[in-house]
Amino acid sequence: MPSLLKAMNSQVGRKIMTGITGVALMLFLIGHLAGNLSIFGSADAFNIYTKTLMDLGPLLYVIEAALAFLFLYHTVLGVSIWLKKRKARPQSYDTYKTKGGPSHQSLASRSMIISGSVIFIFLILHIIHFKFGAEYTTMIDGVEARDLRQLVLEEFQKTWVVIAYVFVLALTILHLSHGFWSAFTSLGMKNQNRSKKIQMTAYAFAIILMLAFIFIPLYIYFTGGQGSLITY
Ligand code: HEM
Repeated sequence: MPSLLKAMNSQVGRKIMTGITGVALMLFLIGHLAGNLSIFGSADAFNIYTKTLMDLGPLLYVIEAALAFLFLYHTVLGVSIWLKKRKARPQSYDTYKTKGGPSHQSLASRSMIISGSVIFIFLILHIIHFKFGAEYTTMIDGVEARDLRQLVLEEFQKTWVVIAYVFVLALTILHLSHGFWSAFTSLGMKNQNRSKKIQMTAYAFAIILMLAFIFIPLYIYFTGGQGSLITY
Protein backbone atom coordinates (compact mmCIF):
# COMPACT_ATOMS: atom_id res chain seq x y z
CA MET A 1 0.00 0.00 0.00
CA PRO A 2 2.69 2.55 0.86
CA SER A 3 4.28 1.88 -2.57
CA LEU A 4 0.94 2.65 -4.26
CA LEU A 5 0.75 5.92 -2.32
CA LYS A 6 4.35 6.63 -3.28
CA ALA A 7 3.56 5.99 -6.96
CA MET A 8 0.45 8.21 -6.75
CA ASN A 9 2.54 10.95 -5.19
CA SER A 10 5.26 10.89 -7.88
CA GLN A 11 5.15 13.59 -10.58
CA VAL A 12 3.84 11.05 -13.15
CA GLY A 13 1.38 9.60 -10.62
CA ARG A 14 0.06 13.06 -9.86
CA LYS A 15 -0.42 13.78 -13.57
CA ILE A 16 -2.36 10.51 -13.94
CA MET A 17 -4.52 11.31 -10.91
CA THR A 18 -5.13 14.84 -12.28
CA GLY A 19 -6.31 13.20 -15.52
CA ILE A 20 -8.61 10.73 -13.73
CA THR A 21 -10.14 13.40 -11.46
CA GLY A 22 -10.39 15.77 -14.46
CA VAL A 23 -12.34 13.20 -16.51
CA ALA A 24 -14.67 12.59 -13.53
CA LEU A 25 -15.26 16.35 -13.22
CA MET A 26 -16.00 16.57 -16.94
CA LEU A 27 -18.64 13.85 -16.54
CA PHE A 28 -20.13 15.95 -13.74
CA LEU A 29 -20.16 18.99 -16.05
CA ILE A 30 -22.02 17.04 -18.77
CA GLY A 31 -24.64 15.98 -16.19
CA HIS A 32 -24.87 19.52 -14.76
CA LEU A 33 -25.36 20.97 -18.25
CA ALA A 34 -28.13 18.46 -19.03
CA GLY A 35 -29.89 19.49 -15.80
CA ASN A 36 -29.40 23.21 -16.50
CA LEU A 37 -30.80 22.94 -20.03
CA SER A 38 -34.09 21.74 -18.52
CA ILE A 39 -34.70 25.45 -17.86
CA PHE A 40 -35.83 25.45 -21.51
CA GLY A 41 -38.26 22.59 -20.88
CA SER A 42 -41.72 22.81 -19.33
CA ALA A 43 -42.42 25.42 -16.64
CA ASP A 44 -41.68 22.88 -13.88
CA ALA A 45 -38.85 20.91 -15.53
CA PHE A 46 -35.94 22.76 -13.89
CA ASN A 47 -37.49 22.69 -10.42
CA ILE A 48 -38.35 19.01 -10.80
CA TYR A 49 -34.66 18.38 -11.64
CA THR A 50 -33.40 20.26 -8.56
CA LYS A 51 -36.17 18.76 -6.36
CA THR A 52 -35.18 15.26 -7.52
CA LEU A 53 -31.62 16.02 -6.36
CA MET A 54 -32.78 17.40 -3.01
CA ASP A 55 -35.09 14.41 -2.49
CA LEU A 56 -32.01 12.17 -2.51
CA GLY A 57 -31.64 13.29 1.12
CA PRO A 58 -28.50 11.93 2.85
CA LEU A 59 -27.31 10.37 -0.44
CA LEU A 60 -27.03 13.89 -1.88
CA TYR A 61 -24.64 14.81 0.97
CA VAL A 62 -22.49 11.80 0.10
CA ILE A 63 -22.47 12.80 -3.61
CA GLU A 64 -21.68 16.43 -2.72
CA ALA A 65 -18.85 15.35 -0.41
CA ALA A 66 -17.41 13.14 -3.19
CA LEU A 67 -17.72 16.03 -5.66
CA ALA A 68 -16.06 18.48 -3.26
CA PHE A 69 -13.26 15.97 -2.68
CA LEU A 70 -12.78 15.57 -6.47
CA PHE A 71 -12.62 19.33 -7.04
CA LEU A 72 -10.24 19.86 -4.10
CA TYR A 73 -7.98 16.91 -4.93
CA HIS A 74 -7.84 17.99 -8.60
CA THR A 75 -6.93 21.54 -7.53
CA VAL A 76 -4.25 20.44 -5.04
CA LEU A 77 -2.70 18.12 -7.66
CA GLY A 78 -2.77 20.84 -10.34
CA VAL A 79 -1.12 23.39 -8.05
CA SER A 80 1.54 20.91 -6.86
CA ILE A 81 2.45 19.93 -10.46
CA TRP A 82 2.67 23.60 -11.39
CA LEU A 83 4.87 24.40 -8.35
CA LYS A 84 7.20 21.50 -9.14
CA LYS A 85 7.50 22.55 -12.80
CA ARG A 86 8.21 26.11 -11.74
CA LYS A 87 10.94 24.92 -9.39
CA ALA A 88 12.48 22.81 -12.15
CA ARG A 89 12.26 25.61 -14.70
CA PRO A 90 12.36 28.97 -12.97
CA GLN A 91 12.20 30.95 -16.27
CA SER A 92 9.08 33.07 -16.46
CA TYR A 93 6.42 32.06 -18.93
CA ASP A 94 7.02 35.33 -20.81
CA THR A 95 10.56 34.37 -21.74
CA TYR A 96 10.00 30.63 -22.08
CA LYS A 97 10.19 29.39 -25.65
CA THR A 98 9.31 25.91 -26.85
CA LYS A 99 11.67 24.01 -29.08
CA GLY A 100 8.84 23.47 -31.59
CA GLY A 101 8.18 19.97 -32.90
CA PRO A 102 5.80 17.86 -30.83
CA SER A 103 5.59 20.39 -27.99
CA HIS A 104 2.03 21.23 -27.01
CA GLN A 105 2.71 24.56 -25.33
CA SER A 106 -0.27 26.78 -26.03
CA LEU A 107 -2.14 29.66 -24.45
CA ALA A 108 -4.40 27.06 -22.79
CA SER A 109 -1.56 24.97 -21.37
CA ARG A 110 0.41 27.98 -20.11
CA SER A 111 -2.63 29.50 -18.40
CA MET A 112 -3.87 26.34 -16.62
CA ILE A 113 -2.91 27.63 -13.17
CA ILE A 114 -4.65 30.97 -13.79
CA SER A 115 -7.81 29.55 -15.40
CA GLY A 116 -7.93 26.83 -12.71
CA SER A 117 -7.66 29.35 -9.89
CA VAL A 118 -10.39 31.56 -11.37
CA ILE A 119 -12.69 28.52 -11.82
CA PHE A 120 -12.01 27.48 -8.21
CA ILE A 121 -13.01 30.91 -6.87
CA PHE A 122 -16.01 30.99 -9.23
CA LEU A 123 -17.15 27.63 -7.91
CA ILE A 124 -17.30 28.83 -4.29
CA LEU A 125 -19.18 32.00 -5.30
CA HIS A 126 -21.44 30.02 -7.68
CA ILE A 127 -22.53 27.62 -4.92
CA ILE A 128 -23.21 30.55 -2.55
CA HIS A 129 -25.06 32.33 -5.39
CA PHE A 130 -27.50 29.55 -6.31
CA LYS A 131 -27.43 26.76 -3.75
CA PHE A 132 -27.54 29.18 -0.83
CA GLY A 133 -29.29 32.00 -2.72
CA ALA A 134 -32.81 33.39 -2.21
CA GLU A 135 -35.32 30.70 -1.28
CA TYR A 136 -38.35 31.21 -3.54
CA THR A 137 -40.95 28.47 -3.38
CA THR A 138 -43.36 26.89 -5.85
CA MET A 139 -45.78 23.95 -5.90
CA ILE A 140 -44.88 20.73 -7.76
CA ASP A 141 -47.67 18.11 -7.84
CA GLY A 142 -49.21 19.68 -4.75
CA VAL A 143 -45.94 19.62 -2.81
CA GLU A 144 -44.03 22.78 -1.85
CA ALA A 145 -40.60 22.92 -3.51
CA ARG A 146 -37.79 25.41 -3.95
CA ASP A 147 -38.22 27.66 -7.02
CA LEU A 148 -34.60 27.73 -8.20
CA ARG A 149 -35.74 28.49 -11.73
CA GLN A 150 -37.13 31.84 -10.54
CA LEU A 151 -33.74 32.64 -8.94
CA VAL A 152 -31.77 31.69 -12.09
CA LEU A 153 -34.13 33.75 -14.32
CA GLU A 154 -33.83 36.72 -11.99
CA GLU A 155 -30.04 36.57 -11.53
CA PHE A 156 -29.29 36.27 -15.25
CA GLN A 157 -31.08 39.53 -15.90
CA LYS A 158 -28.35 41.37 -13.99
CA THR A 159 -25.60 42.69 -16.29
CA TRP A 160 -22.69 42.14 -13.88
CA VAL A 161 -23.78 38.56 -13.13
CA VAL A 162 -24.00 37.70 -16.84
CA ILE A 163 -20.61 39.32 -17.60
CA ALA A 164 -18.98 37.41 -14.71
CA TYR A 165 -20.54 34.07 -15.72
CA VAL A 166 -19.73 34.45 -19.42
CA PHE A 167 -16.14 35.45 -18.58
CA VAL A 168 -15.54 32.43 -16.33
CA LEU A 169 -17.37 30.00 -18.62
CA ALA A 170 -15.28 31.22 -21.58
CA LEU A 171 -12.11 30.77 -19.51
CA THR A 172 -13.30 27.25 -18.73
CA ILE A 173 -13.07 26.50 -22.49
CA LEU A 174 -9.31 27.10 -22.26
CA HIS A 175 -8.96 25.00 -19.10
CA LEU A 176 -11.01 22.07 -20.42
CA SER A 177 -9.49 22.03 -23.90
CA HIS A 178 -5.98 21.59 -22.53
CA GLY A 179 -7.17 19.45 -19.60
CA PHE A 180 -8.99 16.97 -21.83
CA TRP A 181 -6.01 16.60 -24.15
CA SER A 182 -3.62 16.34 -21.22
CA ALA A 183 -5.77 13.65 -19.56
CA PHE A 184 -5.50 11.53 -22.70
CA THR A 185 -1.73 11.98 -22.71
CA SER A 186 -1.31 11.19 -19.00
CA LEU A 187 -3.58 8.17 -19.21
CA GLY A 188 -1.41 6.76 -22.00
CA MET A 189 -3.99 7.07 -24.78
CA LYS A 190 -1.78 9.31 -26.83
CA ASN A 191 -0.43 8.07 -30.09
CA GLN A 192 1.87 10.38 -32.09
CA ASN A 193 -0.26 10.04 -35.27
CA ARG A 194 -3.53 10.54 -33.50
CA SER A 195 -2.25 13.33 -31.25
CA LYS A 196 -3.48 16.16 -33.48
CA LYS A 197 -6.90 14.53 -33.82
CA ILE A 198 -7.18 14.10 -30.05
CA GLN A 199 -6.24 17.73 -29.54
CA MET A 200 -8.87 18.86 -32.06
CA THR A 201 -11.51 16.61 -30.41
CA ALA A 202 -10.57 18.05 -27.00
CA TYR A 203 -10.97 21.61 -28.28
CA ALA A 204 -14.30 20.82 -30.00
CA PHE A 205 -15.63 19.08 -26.86
CA ALA A 206 -14.64 21.99 -24.59
CA ILE A 207 -16.04 24.63 -26.96
CA ILE A 208 -19.40 22.86 -27.53
CA LEU A 209 -19.87 22.06 -23.82
CA MET A 210 -19.07 25.55 -22.59
CA LEU A 211 -20.97 27.36 -25.39
CA ALA A 212 -24.03 25.40 -24.27
CA PHE A 213 -23.43 26.65 -20.69
CA ILE A 214 -22.86 30.23 -21.94
CA PHE A 215 -26.08 30.14 -23.99
CA ILE A 216 -28.18 29.99 -20.79
CA PRO A 217 -27.24 33.35 -19.17
CA LEU A 218 -27.01 35.11 -22.55
CA TYR A 219 -30.43 33.89 -23.70
CA ILE A 220 -32.11 34.87 -20.42
CA TYR A 221 -30.38 38.26 -20.40
CA PHE A 222 -31.15 39.25 -23.97
CA THR A 223 -34.78 38.08 -23.86
CA GLY A 224 -35.41 39.48 -20.38
CA GLY A 225 -36.40 35.95 -19.35
CA GLN A 226 -39.38 36.16 -21.75
CA GLY A 227 -37.97 34.35 -24.80
CA SER A 228 -39.99 31.66 -26.56
CA LEU A 229 -37.72 28.95 -25.08
CA ILE A 230 -38.89 29.83 -21.58
CA THR A 231 -42.31 28.40 -20.75
CA TYR A 232 -44.54 29.95 -18.08
C1 HEM B 1 -24.91 28.61 -17.00
C2 HEM B 1 -24.11 28.08 -16.12
C3 HEM B 1 -24.58 27.44 -14.84
C4 HEM B 1 -25.82 27.45 -14.23
C5 HEM B 1 -27.12 28.10 -14.69
C6 HEM B 1 -25.70 26.66 -13.02
C7 HEM B 1 -26.74 26.44 -12.11
C8 HEM B 1 -26.60 25.84 -10.88
C9 HEM B 1 -27.63 25.74 -9.87
C10 HEM B 1 -29.06 26.29 -10.01
C11 HEM B 1 -27.12 25.09 -8.79
C12 HEM B 1 -27.83 24.72 -7.47
C13 HEM B 1 -28.42 23.32 -7.58
C14 HEM B 1 -29.14 22.89 -6.33
O1 HEM B 1 -28.96 23.47 -5.28
O2 HEM B 1 -29.88 21.92 -6.43
C15 HEM B 1 -25.74 24.75 -9.13
C16 HEM B 1 -24.88 24.06 -8.31
C17 HEM B 1 -23.59 23.72 -8.65
N1 HEM B 1 -22.91 24.06 -9.80
FE1 HEM B 1 -23.67 25.11 -11.34
N2 HEM B 1 -24.42 26.19 -12.92
C18 HEM B 1 -23.69 26.65 -14.01
C19 HEM B 1 -22.35 26.40 -14.28
C20 HEM B 1 -21.50 25.63 -13.50
C21 HEM B 1 -20.13 25.32 -13.81
C22 HEM B 1 -19.39 25.79 -15.06
C23 HEM B 1 -19.66 24.52 -12.81
C24 HEM B 1 -18.29 23.90 -12.61
C25 HEM B 1 -17.16 24.45 -13.02
C26 HEM B 1 -20.74 24.34 -11.86
C27 HEM B 1 -20.66 23.60 -10.71
C28 HEM B 1 -21.65 23.50 -9.74
C29 HEM B 1 -21.51 22.77 -8.50
C30 HEM B 1 -20.27 22.01 -8.04
C31 HEM B 1 -22.72 22.91 -7.80
C32 HEM B 1 -23.08 22.34 -6.43
C33 HEM B 1 -23.80 21.02 -6.63
C34 HEM B 1 -24.39 20.52 -5.33
O3 HEM B 1 -23.88 20.83 -4.26
O4 HEM B 1 -25.40 19.81 -5.38
N3 HEM B 1 -21.84 25.02 -12.31
N4 HEM B 1 -25.45 25.22 -10.39
